Amino acid sequence: IVKASTSSSSSPSSTTLSDSEDIKITSVPTKPIEGQKTGTSGLRKKVKVFMQDNYLANWIQALFNSLPPEDFKNGSLVLGGDGRYFNREAAQIIIKIAAGNGVGKILVGRDGILSTPAVSAVIRKRKANGGFIMSASHNPGGPEYDWGIKFNYNSGQPAPESITDKIYGNTLSIFEIKIANVPDVNLSKIGVTEYGSFTVEVIDPVSDYLELMKYVFDFELIKSLLSRSDFRFIFDAMHAVTGAYAKPIFVDSLGAEPDSIVNGVPLEDFGHGHPDPNLTYAKDLVDILYGENGPDFGAASDGDGDRNMILGSRFFVTPSDSVAIIAANAEAAIPYFKNGPKGLARSMPTSGALDRVAAKLKLPFFEVPTGWKFFGNLMDAGKLSICGEESFGTGSDHVREKDGIWAVLAWLSIIAYRNKDKKTGEKLVSVSDVVKEHWATYGRNFFSRYDYEECESEGANKMMSYLRDLISKSKGGEKYGSYALQFADDFTYTDPVDGSVASKQGVRFVFTDGSRIIFRLSGTGSAGATVRIYIEQFEPDVSKHDVDAQIALKPLIDLALSVSKLKEFTGREKPTVIT
Ligand code: G6P
Ligand code: ZN
Repeated sequence: IVKASTSSSSSPSSTTLSDSEDIKITSVPTKPIEGQKTGTSGLRKKVKVFMQDNYLANWIQALFNSLPPEDFKNGSLVLGGDGRYFNREAAQIIIKIAAGNGVGKILVGRDGILSTPAVSAVIRKRKANGGFIMSASHNPGGPEYDWGIKFNYNSGQPAPESITDKIYGNTLSIFEIKIANVPDVNLSKIGVTEYGSFTVEVIDPVSDYLELMKYVFDFELIKSLLSRSDFRFIFDAMHAVTGAYAKPIFVDSLGAEPDSIVNGVPLEDFGHGHPDPNLTYAKDLVDILYGENGPDFGAASDGDGDRNMILGSRFFVTPSDSVAIIAANAEAAIPYFKNGPKGLARSMPTSGALDRVAAKLKLPFFEVPTGWKFFGNLMDAGKLSICGEESFGTGSDHVREKDGIWAVLAWLSIIAYRNKDKKTGEKLVSVSDVVKEHWATYGRNFFSRYDYEECESEGANKMMSYLRDLISKSKGGEKYGSYALQFADDFTYTDPVDGSVASKQGVRFVFTDGSRIIFRLSGTGSAGATVRIYIEQFEPDVSKHDVDAQIALKPLIDLALSVSKLKEFTGREKPTVIT
C-alpha cells in the first residue's frame, strides 16, 4: 500500500526492481480501482476517496504507464498545487512514484504551492517534460471536501483526451506501482536535494511567473494607476493560491496598498469558503464593490488561480464581455500584443461578444468546446493569442492555462492606459465606462448561465437524452415562442490543427436573431450531475443596453426551462447559481 509515510519500508509482497548505490525502486502490487476517469480538467473526487489505499498512487502509476518513456525518463516534471488539504501527503506520493518510474528531476513549488498558470509558466520556462497540479480548482477543500490532480504536457497545456483516456484505460488494468525508496522531501526549503540520479528542486512559486508577467505587461503603466490616490483597488484571493502571488505582484511590484489584498493567506480549507470567483461565492467582494463609497476596481481568483472575476464600482463584468474587451484593447494597452493578437477564440457556450471583435479586427476566430485544453493546439500552431470562457476563464498564449492574475493585470492595463494623462481630481475612465463604450461600439451580447448543482444523475441524463432527441427532429424555421429556429445541434468540434474530433459537447438551439440557449452537463463536479443552461441574446440598440441581464433575458430563460422540461426531469425549481 502506498502511503506517504511508508516510503522506506516495503510491503512483504513487494519486489525490488533496482538496488544499486542509486535509489532503490520497489514494485508494490496493486489492483484496479473503478471510477478513475478524468473530467473536464483532471481527476476530482472527495478527499476521502483519494485517501483510500493506493487510490492516488494507482492513478499516478497509470499516468506513467500511459506516457511514452521518452516523455519522462531522465526528464524533469513540475509539481505544485493550490495549497488545499491533502496536497502535502499527495506531493510525497507523487515524488516517490515519479522517481520510481525513472523521472530525473522534480521541480516543486515551496510548500507544494504553484498556481495552475504558474505550473504552465514553469514548465515552459524550464523546458520541463510536463507537470502535476494538485487542485480541485474552485471546489471547496478540507477533509470533507474535494481533492484533484491534473497533468499538463510539455508546452504547459492540460493533457489531451488521447492521454487522459489512456490513463483511464490503464487504471483498469494496473497491477503494480513502482515506487522509489526516497525519504519525504522537505518542501518548505528552497534548494536542490539529490538522491542518486534523482533530484528534487524546491523553487520559489512566484519568481518565474512574476518574470513572465513583467514581460507581458507594462508594469510602470499599471503602477501609475495603482499608486494614484483617486483609484482604489481590491483583490480577493479567497484564501486560495493567489494569496501567495498577490502581495509580491500587486503590492511589492506594482505599488498597491497592502490592505488592498483580502483573504490573502492560502489555507487548506480556503477558510471554509468555496473559492469560486462569481457573484454567488465571492459575495463579500461583490458587497464591497456595490456598497457605499466602494473601491473603483475589484477582482478575485479561484482555488488554483486560473479563474477571475472583474468588478467595477457597482458593476460586474461578465466573463464573455471581459475577454472581448481585453481583445479589443490589447494592442494598445499590453506590450505583449503590440503587433496585434494573432487570433481569438472562445468556448461554445461563451457569448458571441468576442466574435464581433474578431470580425472588426479581421482576426482568425475559433469556437471550441468547453475546456481550456482545446485552446492549446491553436496556440502552439501560432493561430491564437487571446481566448476566454464564460466560466470565468480568460487568458492568452503566454502560458497554456487560463490565468486569473493575468486577467486582472490586463484589466488594470486597460484602465491605466485610458487614464494615463488624467490629473488628480479629473474624473477617471471607470470599468463601467470601458464596458459601456464597448457595447456602444459592438452591441451588447446579454448573457447568463443557470446552474443546477448536484442533481440526481439519472434525471439529468434523461433530460439531455430528451433534448438530443428533440434536436434530431428539429427543423430550421420552427417557431419557439417568438423565436424562429435557425438550427439546433449537439456541438461537435474538429480541431483544425490535428483533426481530432470532440462530439456531444452541448445541445444548442440557435435562433434566427442570433439568440442561443445551450444545455450541458458539467464535467467538473464531484457529486451527482450539474446541469448548465446558457442563455444569450444580442442587442444592437444602445438605448436598451442598461437593462439588467436577467430582465432582458427573461423570455429566453423561460423558453429554455420549458423546452428542456428541466423541472420535470430534475425536480428543481430554482438554479443554485446564476452568473
Ligand atoms: C474548468 C475548465 C474550464 C471549463 C470549466 C467549466 O475551469 O478549466 O475550461 O470551462 O471548468 O467546466 P464545466 O464542465 O464544469 O462546465
Ligand atoms: Zn481553477
